[in-house]
Amino acid sequence: MMSIRPTIATVDLGAIRHNLAVARRLAPNQAICAVVKADGYGHGINEVGMTLDRAGVEWLAVALVEEGINLRRVGVKTDILVLGSALGGTLYELVTHNLTPAIYRLDQIEALGMAARGKQLKFHLKIDTGMARLGVPLGELNDLLEGLKRYPQLTLDGVMTHFANADLADREFNNAQLRLFNGALATVREHGFKPTWVHISNSAAVLSYPEAHIGLVRPGLVIYGLDPLEKRREIGLVPAMSWLTRPVHLKTIPAGTRVSYGGRWVAQRETRLMTLPVGYADGYPRALSGKAQVLICGQRAKVVGNICMDLCMVDVTDVPDATLDDEVVLMGRQKGEEITAYELAAWADTIPYEIICGVGSRVPRYYIDHTT
Ligand SMILES: Cc1ncc(COP(=O)(O)O)c(C=O)c1O
Repeated sequence: MMSIRPTIATVDLGAIRHNLAVARRLAPNQAICAVVKADGYGHGINEVGMTLDRAGVEWLAVALVEEGINLRRVGVKTDILVLGSALGGTLYELVTHNLTPAIYRLDQIEALGMAARGKQLKFHLKIDTGMARLGVPLGELNDLLEGLKRYPQLTLDGVMTHFANADLADREFNNAQLRLFNGALATVREHGFKPTWVHISNSAAVLSYPEAHIGLVRPGLVIYGLDPLEKRREIGLVPAMSWLTRPVHLKTIPAGTRVSYGGRWVAQRETRLMTLPVGYADGYPRALSGKAQVLICGQRAKVVGNICMDLCMVDVTDVPDATLDDEVVLMGRQKGEEITAYELAAWADTIPYEIICGVGSRVPRYYIDHTT
């Protein structure tokens, strides 16, 4: 892809394969359902999906039927689970593209049963064990299973739930969720259903909760080389995305000069000020204003003044070698230094998920294949 504006994200597909292998090592003897919703956590759903498909991943999970259709269009053959499954008008597409919905209401079962038209359709049943988001409440499970018996054209292929607190060291809530899930599973089996897949583990549970490795695991963040427990160095994950730019302006401003909207940052000394072509419209959060650092010439330099829609300013006074020709790293490595998604998240008072998913659609992704 041609990029005139020099702000780009590189995505190392080799790192994606490598991180899948790390996930397999962390959860031995488990099938893997790699979560590629939200445009592959900002990395590009089609490229990431194809890479994982070729690497033999057993399942991919998306939030939307549209995302599943995209994956089928680029040739993904593996099973695709649609987590969100707002079925509505999308049932025809769901069936046509061989996507497997996660279902949690009886009316969804009825609609899927009607859409089968002579086919045998499979779905996964989502149980609410404590996240209170999607999932059939435990008190309604019996009724739902009774209702399901009216639709022999539907196969209960999987049963799943989702941890609310898997990243917390305190295991009490996780243990409670796992207990409730096992109880629900027993109920499902008492009704005569025999799901092929049972699954509960997101990245944090893949990393640290082997009791929850019960056949299939569902990592997202780990696949992209990050983990919610920040142990990535110990376990050998490689972040797949780097975010780079090049300066568009470099000038010296006298002490006392106010910088950017609101003039809240005032140069305390004569300052070499660099302007970068990245702003909050690219997903570089305005909340980073005055907090974020970038790498230039292998050194850290601070973002000063308010981040604008398309631009931001950096104080490079202490990086005397910096020129307009230098590459600037917003996230990633340079000469042994690194700005991580965790750091950006801490500066912006958010989580690394939001940083990587937020890298804007006008930032072109360049695909490389480095990590082996
Ligand atoms: C239902 C479900 N499973 C798995 C995941 C993957 O979570 P993580 O990226 O923490 O591994 C998500 C992500 O939000 C999810 O919603």
